[in-house]
Amino acid sequence: MHPAQVKILTVIGARPQFVKAAVVSRSIADANARAPGSVSEVLVHTGQHYDANMSDVFFEEMRIPKPHHHLGIGGGPHGAMTGRMLEAIERVVVQERPDWLLVYGDTNSTLAGALAAAKLHVPVGHVEAGLRSFNRRMPEEVNRVLTDHVAALLFAPTDVAVANLAREGVSGPGVRQVGDVMLDAALYYRQLARPTAATAPLLAPLAGGFFLATVHRAENTDDPARLKGILDALSEISARTPVILPLHPRTRGSLGAWRAPPSLHVIDPVGYFDILCMLQACGGVLTDSGGLQKEAFFFGKRCLVLRDETEWVELVEKGFNLLAGADRDRIVSAAASFLDGAAPEALPLYGDGHAGERIVEALLERR
Ligand code: UD1
Repeated sequence: MHPAQVKILTVIGARPQFVKAAVVSRSIADANARAPGSVSEVLVHTGQHYDANMSDVFFEEMRIPKPHHHLGIGGGPHGAMTGRMLEAIERVVVQERPDWLLVYGDTNSTLAGALAAAKLHVPVGHVEAGLRSFNRRMPEEVNRVLTDHVAALLFAPTDVAVANLAREGVSGPGVRQVGDVMLDAALYYRQLARPTAATAPLLAPLAGGFFLATVHRAENTDDPARLKGILDALSEISARTPVILPLHPRTRGSLGAWRAPPSLHVIDPVGYFDILCMLQACGGVLTDSGGLQKEAFFFGKRCLVLRDETEWVELVEKGFNLLAGADRDRIVSAAASFLDGAAPEALPLYGDGHAGERIVEALLERR
C-alpha cells in the first residue's frame, strides 16, 4: 500500500531560489519514483526575477520543472511587490490546498509565500532557516526573521543557524539541521557544467588567472559612495589581476557615468553553469552575494565579502572569507594580502551534499 499523497506547494521567484529549489525538486521527484503517487510538487514562480538570464536559464540548465503558476509580479517598491505576491499566492493556496508550502531563503517572494500559507493554516517549510546578519535595515533580514517565526519546519543549514533560532525562542522538533542545499547543487551540477557561449570566449584568454566579482545588495547599489568604493577597488585590482563582473540589473541601473577599465570585464548576468565554471577557474572571489560566499568555499577559493557583516560567520571565523566592506583602499589591500594567499584546508561546514533528501523526508514524515 502506498502512503497517502503529500502535496507540496513551492514558492520561488528570485535567482538564488531557483538553484536551491532545483535540488529539492529533484529529491521530491526521486521520492515519488521510489513510492509512486506518494508525493507531488506544484511550483509557483512569483516573477520577482523575470529576465531570461536571471530566470529562464536556471530552469533550462538545472532542469527545474516548468512552473504551474507564474504570477508575473516583478519590480516596484518592496511593500507593493510583497503585497501583490501575498494576494496572488493566497489565491493559489486556496485553489491547490497543499499539505505544505515550501519557501527558500530571504527574498520578498519568501515572505509573501510564508505569510499567505500561515494565514490559511497551511504549514510552512523554510529552507535556509536561522540565518541572521543582525542588521534589520536589510530587507532580507526582515524577511528571514518573519518567515522563521511562522514556519512549522525550519531547515537550518548550519549549527550557527540552529543557535540563532534558539536565541529567538524557536526550537524543538520543527528545527532540523539538514546541511546546505547549495552544497548539494554545487556537487551535482559541477559534473554537468560547461562554459556557455556567453563566457567561453572570455574565459579562454583569462585562464592564467582572474578574480570573479558580483555586486547587487541594496546597501551597496543604493548608496553611491559604497558603490563607487567597490567599483573603484575592482578597477584598481583588475590592473594586476583581471576581474570578471557579471552585473545584476539592479547594479547596472545604478552605474551612472562610471566606466570600467578594459581589464575589468563587465558582462551580463550569467547562468549557474557559467558561475560554476568561473568558480572552478578563478583565483578568488569578491562579492556581496550570500550564495557566492559559500560557493567560493565549495570550490576551495578565498572570498572577500563586500559587506560589513555576513550571515555565513563560520567562513570568516575559520579564515576562508574576509569581511572587506565597501571602502576602496581596504578592498584593494585585502585583495593583495588575503585573496592571493592559499585557502585553509576544507572543513565539512555545510553538510554532506544530501540536504535535499533530508528535507523531503521531513516533509513526508510530518504531514
Ligand atoms: C533579490 C533579493 C535578494 C537576493 C537577490 C538575488 C529581496 C528583498 N531581495 O534582490 O535577497 O539576494 O534577489 O539576485 O527579495 N530586475 C530586472 N530583471 C530581473 C530581476 C530584477 O531588471 O530579472 C530589476 C528589478 O525590476 C528591480 C531590481 O532589478 O528594479 C532589483 O530586483 P529585486 O527583485 O527588487 O531585488 P534584487 O536586488 O534582485
